Amino acid sequence: MQPKLEKKKNTSNNWLKILIPVLAIGGLSVFAVLGAFVAFIITAWWGQPIPVMGFEQTFEQPIHFPHTVHASVKELDHVSTDGTPMTGLGMDCTFCHRTVTTQPNAGVPSVGLCTTCHKVIGSKDSTELTKLRESGGLLDAASSPINWKRVHRLPDHVRFVHESHITYLMQNPNKIKNSSSGVTEGAAGVCSTCHGDVASMEQVKQVEALKMGQCVDCHRDNGAPTDCVVCHH
Ligand code: HEC
Ligand code: HEC
Ligand code: HEC
Ligand code: HEC
Ligand code: HEC
Repeated sequence: MQPKLEKKKNTSNNWLKILIPVLAIGGLSVFAVLGAFVAFIITAWWGQPIPVMGFEQTFEQPIHFPHTVHASVKELDHVSTDGTPMTGLGMDCTFCHRTVTTQPNAGVPSVGLCTTCHKVIGSKDSTELTKLRESGGLLDAASSPINWKRVHRLPDHVRFVHESHITYLMQNPNKIKNSSSGVTEGAAGVCSTCHGDVASMEQVKQVEALKMGQCVDCHRDNGAPTDCVVCHH
Protein backbone atom coordinates (compact mmCIF):
# COMPACT_ATOMS: atom_id res chain seq x y z
CA MET A 1 0.00 0.00 0.00
CA GLN A 2 2.48 2.53 1.19
CA PRO A 3 4.83 2.59 -1.86
CA LYS A 4 1.87 3.08 -4.23
CA LEU A 5 0.55 6.14 -2.36
CA GLU A 6 3.97 7.72 -2.31
CA LYS A 7 4.28 7.30 -6.04
CA LYS A 8 0.96 9.05 -6.67
CA LYS A 9 1.94 11.99 -4.47
CA ASN A 10 5.16 12.35 -6.42
CA THR A 11 3.46 12.52 -9.78
CA SER A 12 1.09 15.26 -8.70
CA ASN A 13 4.05 17.15 -7.28
CA ASN A 14 5.80 16.82 -10.60
CA TRP A 15 2.79 18.20 -12.39
CA LEU A 16 2.76 21.20 -10.08
CA LYS A 17 6.49 21.71 -10.62
CA ILE A 18 5.81 22.09 -14.31
CA LEU A 19 2.51 23.94 -14.06
CA ILE A 20 3.64 26.69 -11.69
CA PRO A 21 6.53 27.97 -13.81
CA VAL A 22 4.38 27.70 -16.95
CA LEU A 23 1.69 29.85 -15.34
CA ALA A 24 4.28 32.27 -14.00
CA ILE A 25 5.97 32.70 -17.37
CA GLY A 26 2.59 33.03 -19.04
CA GLY A 27 1.55 35.72 -16.58
CA LEU A 28 4.83 37.58 -16.99
CA SER A 29 4.63 37.58 -20.75
CA VAL A 30 1.12 39.01 -20.62
CA PHE A 31 2.56 41.84 -18.52
CA ALA A 32 5.48 42.21 -20.90
CA VAL A 33 3.20 42.43 -23.91
CA LEU A 34 0.92 44.93 -22.16
CA GLY A 35 3.93 46.95 -21.02
CA ALA A 36 5.43 47.08 -24.50
CA PHE A 37 2.04 48.07 -25.90
CA VAL A 38 1.61 50.92 -23.41
CA ALA A 39 5.18 52.12 -24.04
CA PHE A 40 4.50 52.03 -27.77
CA ILE A 41 1.35 54.15 -27.43
CA ILE A 42 3.13 56.65 -25.18
CA THR A 43 6.08 57.07 -27.54
CA ALA A 44 3.86 57.18 -30.60
CA TRP A 45 1.48 59.83 -29.32
CA TRP A 46 3.32 61.91 -26.80
CA GLY A 47 6.79 61.71 -28.12
CA GLN A 48 8.43 60.83 -24.81
CA PRO A 49 11.38 58.98 -26.30
CA ILE A 50 12.32 55.77 -24.51
CA PRO A 51 15.99 55.45 -25.42
CA VAL A 52 16.06 51.66 -25.02
CA MET A 53 13.66 51.49 -27.95
CA GLY A 54 16.40 52.97 -30.05
CA PHE A 55 15.09 56.24 -31.48
CA GLU A 56 18.70 57.40 -31.73
CA GLN A 57 19.19 55.95 -35.16
CA THR A 58 22.53 55.82 -36.86
CA PHE A 59 23.92 53.56 -39.56
CA GLU A 60 27.22 52.40 -40.93
CA GLN A 61 27.42 54.28 -44.25
CA PRO A 62 29.06 52.89 -47.41
CA ILE A 63 31.64 55.68 -47.09
CA HIS A 64 32.46 57.12 -43.68
CA PHE A 65 31.58 60.76 -44.41
CA PRO A 66 32.62 63.13 -41.60
CA HIS A 67 30.31 66.17 -41.26
CA THR A 68 32.89 67.51 -38.79
CA VAL A 69 35.60 67.97 -41.43
CA HIS A 70 33.29 69.57 -43.98
CA ALA A 71 30.71 71.56 -42.00
CA SER A 72 32.25 72.46 -38.64
CA VAL A 73 33.87 75.83 -37.99
CA LYS A 74 35.79 74.51 -34.97
CA GLU A 75 39.22 73.00 -34.30
CA LEU A 76 39.02 69.23 -34.94
CA ASP A 77 40.65 65.97 -33.86
CA HIS A 78 40.99 65.15 -37.57
CA VAL A 79 44.54 65.29 -38.90
CA SER A 80 44.82 66.34 -42.55
CA THR A 81 46.89 64.58 -45.22
CA ASP A 82 49.93 66.78 -44.59
CA GLY A 83 49.90 65.78 -40.90
CA THR A 84 48.61 69.00 -39.35
CA PRO A 85 45.47 69.17 -37.15
CA MET A 86 42.69 70.87 -39.05
CA THR A 87 39.84 73.27 -38.43
CA GLY A 88 36.50 72.36 -40.03
CA LEU A 89 36.01 73.70 -43.55
CA GLY A 90 32.77 75.44 -42.53
CA MET A 91 30.91 74.48 -45.71
CA ASP A 92 27.30 75.65 -45.63
CA CYS A 93 24.71 72.87 -45.15
CA THR A 94 22.81 74.12 -48.20
CA PHE A 95 25.90 73.70 -50.40
CA CYS A 96 25.32 69.96 -50.21
CA HIS A 97 21.66 69.75 -49.16
CA ARG A 98 20.66 71.98 -52.03
CA THR A 99 16.90 71.64 -52.11
CA VAL A 100 16.31 72.17 -48.39
CA THR A 101 15.17 75.78 -48.80
CA THR A 102 13.01 75.18 -51.87
CA GLN A 103 11.52 71.67 -51.65
CA PRO A 104 10.04 69.10 -49.26
CA ASN A 105 13.25 67.02 -49.37
CA ALA A 106 16.63 68.34 -48.28
CA GLY A 107 18.45 66.16 -50.80
CA VAL A 108 21.80 64.39 -50.48
CA PRO A 109 24.52 65.38 -52.96
CA SER A 110 25.53 63.16 -55.84
CA VAL A 111 29.07 61.81 -56.00
CA GLY A 112 29.93 64.36 -58.70
CA LEU A 113 29.82 67.15 -56.13
CA CYS A 114 32.28 65.28 -53.91
CA THR A 115 34.74 64.55 -56.70
CA THR A 116 35.00 68.22 -57.71
CA CYS A 117 37.20 68.45 -54.62
CA HIS A 118 38.35 64.90 -54.06
CA LYS A 119 39.72 64.40 -57.56
CA VAL A 120 42.75 66.17 -56.06
CA ILE A 121 42.12 66.84 -52.36
CA GLY A 122 43.00 64.18 -49.77
CA SER A 123 45.50 61.36 -49.64
CA LYS A 124 45.78 58.67 -52.32
CA ASP A 125 46.11 56.17 -49.44
CA SER A 126 42.80 57.00 -47.75
CA THR A 127 40.51 53.95 -47.89
CA GLU A 128 37.39 56.08 -47.69
CA LEU A 129 38.49 58.42 -50.47
CA THR A 130 39.46 55.44 -52.62
CA LYS A 131 35.89 54.18 -52.33
CA LEU A 132 34.68 57.68 -53.19
CA ARG A 133 36.95 58.04 -56.24
CA GLU A 134 35.87 54.60 -57.41
CA SER A 135 32.18 55.62 -57.21
CA GLY A 136 33.00 58.85 -58.99
CA GLY A 137 34.53 56.95 -61.91
CA LEU A 138 38.02 58.37 -61.31
CA LEU A 139 39.60 54.93 -61.01
CA ASP A 140 39.09 51.87 -63.22
CA ALA A 141 35.35 51.34 -62.78
CA ALA A 142 32.57 53.41 -64.34
CA SER A 143 30.89 55.88 -62.01
CA SER A 144 28.11 54.55 -59.78
CA PRO A 145 25.94 56.32 -57.19
CA ILE A 146 26.76 56.00 -53.48
CA ASN A 147 24.05 54.11 -51.67
CA TRP A 148 23.72 56.35 -48.58
CA LYS A 149 21.45 54.91 -45.90
CA ARG A 150 18.61 57.09 -44.65
CA VAL A 151 19.01 58.11 -41.01
CA HIS A 152 15.76 60.09 -40.55
CA ARG A 153 12.65 58.60 -42.02
CA LEU A 154 9.04 59.30 -41.12
CA PRO A 155 6.44 56.61 -41.86
CA ASP A 156 4.94 56.70 -45.38
CA HIS A 157 1.62 58.07 -44.14
CA VAL A 158 3.28 61.28 -42.92
CA ARG A 159 4.11 64.35 -44.99
CA PHE A 160 6.95 66.70 -44.09
CA VAL A 161 8.13 69.80 -45.94
CA HIS A 162 11.56 71.29 -45.25
CA GLU A 163 11.04 74.51 -47.17
CA SER A 164 8.23 76.02 -45.05
CA HIS A 165 9.99 75.15 -41.78
CA ILE A 166 13.30 76.69 -42.86
CA THR A 167 11.55 79.89 -43.99
CA TYR A 168 9.55 80.14 -40.76
CA LEU A 169 12.56 79.54 -38.49
CA MET A 170 14.72 82.05 -40.37
CA GLN A 171 12.00 84.65 -39.81
CA ASN A 172 11.58 83.64 -36.15
CA PRO A 173 15.12 83.05 -34.84
CA ASN A 174 13.87 82.93 -31.22
CA LYS A 175 12.25 79.53 -32.05
CA ILE A 176 15.56 77.91 -33.06
CA LYS A 177 16.66 75.14 -30.67
CA ASN A 178 20.01 73.52 -29.73
CA SER A 179 22.16 75.94 -31.68
CA SER A 180 25.61 75.16 -30.36
CA SER A 181 27.21 74.44 -33.73
CA GLY A 182 28.69 77.90 -34.11
CA VAL A 183 26.70 78.30 -37.33
CA THR A 184 24.04 80.94 -36.81
CA GLU A 185 23.60 82.58 -40.20
CA GLY A 186 21.02 81.80 -42.86
CA ALA A 187 19.23 78.52 -43.49
CA ALA A 188 22.11 76.49 -42.00
CA GLY A 189 21.49 78.19 -38.66
CA VAL A 190 18.07 76.55 -38.20
CA CYS A 191 18.77 72.85 -38.90
CA SER A 192 19.79 72.21 -35.27
CA THR A 193 16.14 72.66 -34.19
CA CYS A 194 15.33 69.16 -35.48
CA HIS A 195 18.74 67.61 -36.22
CA GLY A 196 20.96 68.77 -33.34
CA ASP A 197 24.54 69.83 -33.97
CA VAL A 198 25.28 67.85 -37.15
CA ALA A 199 28.44 69.86 -37.83
CA SER A 200 29.98 68.23 -34.74
CA MET A 201 29.01 64.66 -35.69
CA GLU A 202 31.59 62.25 -37.13
CA GLN A 203 28.61 60.23 -38.28
CA VAL A 204 25.07 61.65 -38.39
CA LYS A 205 22.60 60.24 -35.93
CA GLN A 206 19.02 61.12 -35.12
CA VAL A 207 18.95 63.04 -31.84
CA GLU A 208 15.35 64.26 -31.87
CA ALA A 209 12.59 61.65 -31.69
CA LEU A 210 10.52 63.66 -34.24
CA LYS A 211 7.33 62.04 -33.01
CA MET A 212 3.84 63.33 -33.68
CA GLY A 213 3.56 64.95 -30.23
CA GLN A 214 6.61 67.10 -30.93
CA CYS A 215 5.33 68.19 -34.37
CA VAL A 216 1.86 69.00 -33.06
CA ASP A 217 3.16 70.87 -29.97
CA CYS A 218 5.30 73.12 -32.12
CA HIS A 219 2.45 73.69 -34.58
CA ARG A 220 0.12 74.65 -31.73
CA ASP A 221 2.69 77.01 -30.18
CA ASN A 222 3.31 78.74 -33.50
CA GLY A 223 -0.19 79.03 -34.91
CA ALA A 224 0.52 76.41 -37.60
CA PRO A 225 -2.33 74.07 -38.62
CA THR A 226 -2.94 70.90 -36.54
CA ASP A 227 -5.59 69.21 -38.73
CA CYS A 228 -4.75 65.58 -39.40
CA VAL A 229 -4.67 66.10 -43.17
CA VAL A 230 -1.87 68.67 -42.92
CA CYS A 231 0.57 65.90 -42.01
CA HIS A 232 -1.24 62.72 -43.06
CA HIS A 233 -2.09 61.56 -46.57
C1 HEC B 1 30.11 68.19 -48.21
C2 HEC B 1 28.69 67.97 -48.27
C3 HEC B 1 27.85 68.11 -47.00
C4 HEC B 1 27.75 69.19 -46.16
C5 HEC B 1 28.51 70.52 -46.23
C6 HEC B 1 26.72 68.86 -45.19
N1 HEC B 1 26.25 67.60 -45.43
FE1 HEC B 1 24.77 66.64 -44.41
N2 HEC B 1 25.09 64.96 -45.51
C7 HEC B 1 25.98 64.83 -46.55
C8 HEC B 1 26.01 63.45 -47.01
C9 HEC B 1 26.88 62.89 -48.13
C10 HEC B 1 25.08 62.75 -46.21
C11 HEC B 1 24.73 61.25 -46.28
C12 HEC B 1 25.70 60.44 -45.48
C13 HEC B 1 25.50 60.50 -44.00
O1 HEC B 1 24.38 60.31 -43.52
O2 HEC B 1 26.50 60.76 -43.29
C14 HEC B 1 24.51 63.72 -45.28
C15 HEC B 1 23.55 63.44 -44.33
C16 HEC B 1 22.92 64.40 -43.53
C17 HEC B 1 21.81 64.15 -42.65
C18 HEC B 1 21.12 62.80 -42.45
C19 HEC B 1 20.19 62.52 -43.59
C20 HEC B 1 19.33 61.32 -43.35
O3 HEC B 1 19.56 60.30 -44.00
O4 HEC B 1 18.46 61.38 -42.48
C21 HEC B 1 21.48 65.32 -42.04
C22 HEC B 1 20.36 65.56 -41.03
C23 HEC B 1 22.42 66.31 -42.51
N3 HEC B 1 23.27 65.72 -43.42
C24 HEC B 1 22.44 67.62 -42.09
C25 HEC B 1 23.44 68.52 -42.41
C26 HEC B 1 23.61 69.79 -41.77
C27 HEC B 1 22.70 70.36 -40.69
C28 HEC B 1 24.69 70.39 -42.35
C29 HEC B 1 25.31 71.73 -42.00
C30 HEC B 1 25.72 71.87 -40.60
C31 HEC B 1 25.22 69.46 -43.34
N4 HEC B 1 24.44 68.34 -43.33
C32 HEC B 1 26.31 69.71 -44.16
C33 HEC B 1 26.74 65.84 -47.10
C34 HEC B 1 26.91 67.10 -46.53
C1 HEC C 1 34.99 71.95 -51.00
C2 HEC C 1 35.76 70.74 -51.18
C3 HEC C 1 35.17 69.43 -50.66
C4 HEC C 1 34.00 68.83 -51.05
C5 HEC C 1 32.95 69.34 -52.04
C6 HEC C 1 33.95 67.56 -50.36
N1 HEC C 1 35.06 67.40 -49.56
FE1 HEC C 1 35.54 65.75 -48.45
N2 HEC C 1 37.16 66.73 -47.71
C7 HEC C 1 37.62 67.97 -48.12
C8 HEC C 1 38.85 68.28 -47.41
C9 HEC C 1 39.70 69.55 -47.55
C10 HEC C 1 39.10 67.17 -46.54
C11 HEC C 1 40.29 66.98 -45.60
C12 HEC C 1 41.32 66.28 -46.41
C13 HEC C 1 42.47 65.79 -45.57
O1 HEC C 1 42.25 64.97 -44.67
O2 HEC C 1 43.59 66.21 -45.87
C14 HEC C 1 38.01 66.22 -46.77
C15 HEC C 1 37.94 64.98 -46.15
C16 HEC C 1 37.06 63.98 -46.51
C17 HEC C 1 37.07 62.62 -45.99
C18 HEC C 1 38.05 62.08 -44.96
C19 HEC C 1 39.22 61.48 -45.66
C20 HEC C 1 40.18 60.78 -44.73
O3 HEC C 1 41.05 60.10 -45.24
O4 HEC C 1 40.04 60.92 -43.53
C21 HEC C 1 36.06 61.94 -46.59
C22 HEC C 1 35.67 60.49 -46.40
C23 HEC C 1 35.37 62.87 -47.47
N3 HEC C 1 36.02 64.09 -47.41
C24 HEC C 1 34.28 62.55 -48.24
C25 HEC C 1 33.55 63.48 -48.98
C26 HEC C 1 32.29 63.20 -49.63
C27 HEC C 1 31.56 61.87 -49.59
C28 HEC C 1 31.90 64.36 -50.25
C29 HEC C 1 30.61 64.60 -51.04
C30 HEC C 1 29.38 64.41 -50.31
C31 HEC C 1 32.93 65.34 -50.00
N4 HEC C 1 33.91 64.78 -49.22
C32 HEC C 1 32.92 66.64 -50.51
C33 HEC C 1 37.04 68.78 -49.07
C34 HEC C 1 35.83 68.53 -49.72
C1 HEC D 1 11.17 71.19 -38.34
C2 HEC D 1 12.16 70.14 -38.28
C3 HEC D 1 13.30 70.10 -39.29
C4 HEC D 1 14.18 71.11 -39.63
C5 HEC D 1 14.22 72.54 -39.11
C6 HEC D 1 15.11 70.53 -40.58
N1 HEC D 1 14.79 69.21 -40.81
FE1 HEC D 1 15.78 67.90 -42.02
N2 HEC D 1 14.39 66.46 -41.62
C7 HEC D 1 13.31 66.60 -40.75
C8 HEC D 1 12.48 65.41 -40.81
C9 HEC D 1 11.19 65.18 -40.03
C10 HEC D 1 13.10 64.55 -41.75
C11 HEC D 1 12.58 63.18 -42.22
C12 HEC D 1 11.66 63.45 -43.39
C13 HEC D 1 10.97 62.25 -43.98
O1 HEC D 1 11.27 61.12 -43.61
O2 HEC D 1 10.12 62.46 -44.85
C14 HEC D 1 14.30 65.24 -42.23
C15 HEC D 1 15.19 64.70 -43.16
C16 HEC D 1 16.36 65.33 -43.59
C17 HEC D 1 17.32 64.76 -44.52
C18 HEC D 1 17.25 63.39 -45.20
C19 HEC D 1 16.10 63.27 -46.16
C20 HEC D 1 15.96 64.39 -47.14
O3 HEC D 1 15.04 65.21 -46.95
O4 HEC D 1 16.72 64.48 -48.10
C21 HEC D 1 18.33 65.70 -44.68
C22 HEC D 1 19.56 65.57 -45.57
C23 HEC D 1 17.98 66.85 -43.86
N3 HEC D 1 16.78 66.59 -43.21
C24 HEC D 1 18.75 68.00 -43.76
C25 HEC D 1 18.33 69.17 -43.15
C26 HEC D 1 19.05 70.43 -43.21
C27 HEC D 1 20.37 70.65 -43.95
C28 HEC D 1 18.33 71.34 -42.49
C29 HEC D 1 18.63 72.84 -42.29
C30 HEC D 1 18.81 73.63 -43.51
C31 HEC D 1 17.14 70.64 -41.97
N4 HEC D 1 17.18 69.34 -42.41
C32 HEC D 1 16.17 71.22 -41.17
C33 HEC D 1 13.06 67.69 -39.94
C34 HEC D 1 13.70 68.92 -40.03
C1 HEC E 1 9.88 74.40 -34.83
C2 HEC E 1 8.45 74.15 -34.80
C3 HEC E 1 7.93 73.06 -35.73
C4 HEC E 1 8.22 71.71 -35.69
C5 HEC E 1 9.14 70.99 -34.71
C6 HEC E 1 7.45 71.12 -36.75
N1 HEC E 1 6.75 72.07 -37.44
FE1 HEC E 1 5.63 71.74 -39.13
N2 HEC E 1 5.33 73.74 -39.30
C7 HEC E 1 5.70 74.69 -38.38
C8 HEC E 1 5.20 75.98 -38.80
C9 HEC E 1 5.38 77.31 -38.06
C10 HEC E 1 4.51 75.77 -40.02
C11 HEC E 1 3.80 76.80 -40.88
C12 HEC E 1 4.80 77.41 -41.82
C13 HEC E 1 4.16 78.40 -42.73
O1 HEC E 1 3.30 79.16 -42.26
O2 HEC E 1 4.53 78.39 -43.91
C14 HEC E 1 4.59 74.33 -40.31
C15 HEC E 1 4.05 73.75 -41.43
C16 HEC E 1 4.01 72.38 -41.67
C17 HEC E 1 3.41 71.73 -42.79
C18 HEC E 1 2.71 72.42 -43.96
C19 HEC E 1 3.79 72.81 -44.94
C20 HEC E 1 3.31 73.23 -46.29
O3 HEC E 1 4.00 74.06 -46.88
O4 HEC E 1 2.28 72.72 -46.76
C21 HEC E 1 3.59 70.37 -42.64
C22 HEC E 1 3.14 69.27 -43.58
C23 HEC E 1 4.31 70.18 -41.40
N3 HEC E 1 4.56 71.41 -40.85
C24 HEC E 1 4.65 68.95 -40.89
C25 HEC E 1 5.43 68.76 -39.75
C26 HEC E 1 5.83 67.47 -39.24
C27 HEC E 1 5.43 66.13 -39.82
C28 HEC E 1 6.63 67.71 -38.16
C29 HEC E 1 7.31 66.72 -37.24
C30 HEC E 1 8.21 65.76 -37.86
C31 HEC E 1 6.71 69.15 -37.99
N4 HEC E 1 5.96 69.75 -38.97
C32 HEC E 1 7.46 69.76 -37.00
C33 HEC E 1 6.46 74.49 -37.24
C34 HEC E 1 7.00 73.27 -36.84
C1 HEC F 1 2.08 68.30 -37.33
C2 HEC F 1 2.00 67.02 -37.95
C3 HEC F 1 0.93 66.03 -37.51
C4 HEC F 1 -0.40 66.24 -37.32
C5 HEC F 1 -1.16 67.57 -37.39
C6 HEC F 1 -0.99 64.96 -37.01
N1 HEC F 1 -0.03 63.99 -37.03
FE1 HEC F 1 -0.31 61.98 -36.70
N2 HEC F 1 1.71 61.65 -36.93
C7 HEC F 1 2.62 62.62 -37.22
C8 HEC F 1 3.94 61.99 -37.29
C9 HEC F 1 5.25 62.69 -37.58
C10 HEC F 1 3.74 60.62 -37.06
C11 HEC F 1 4.80 59.51 -37.10
C12 HEC F 1 5.65 59.51 -35.88
C13 HEC F 1 4.93 58.91 -34.75
O1 HEC F 1 4.57 57.72 -34.82
O2 HEC F 1 4.67 59.65 -33.76
C14 HEC F 1 2.31 60.42 -36.82
C15 HEC F 1 1.72 59.21 -36.53
C16 HEC F 1 0.34 59.02 -36.40
C17 HEC F 1 -0.29 57.74 -36.19
C18 HEC F 1 0.41 56.42 -36.12
C19 HEC F 1 0.89 56.21 -34.73
C20 HEC F 1 1.74 55.01 -34.69
O3 HEC F 1 1.91 54.52 -33.60
O4 HEC F 1 2.28 54.59 -35.72
C21 HEC F 1 -1.64 57.96 -36.11
C22 HEC F 1 -2.72 56.91 -35.90
C23 HEC F 1 -1.85 59.38 -36.26
N3 HEC F 1 -0.61 59.99 -36.43
C24 HEC F 1 -3.08 60.00 -36.24
C25 HEC F 1 -3.29 61.38 -36.31
C26 HEC F 1 -4.60 62.02 -36.19
C27 HEC F 1 -5.92 61.28 -35.97
C28 HEC F 1 -4.40 63.36 -36.34
C29 HEC F 1 -5.41 64.50 -36.23
C30 HEC F 1 -6.07 64.62 -34.94
C31 HEC F 1 -2.96 63.56 -36.54
N4 HEC F 1 -2.33 62.33 -36.52
C32 HEC F 1 -2.34 64.78 -36.75
C33 HEC F 1 2.39 63.95 -37.43
C34 HEC F 1 1.16 64.58 -37.34
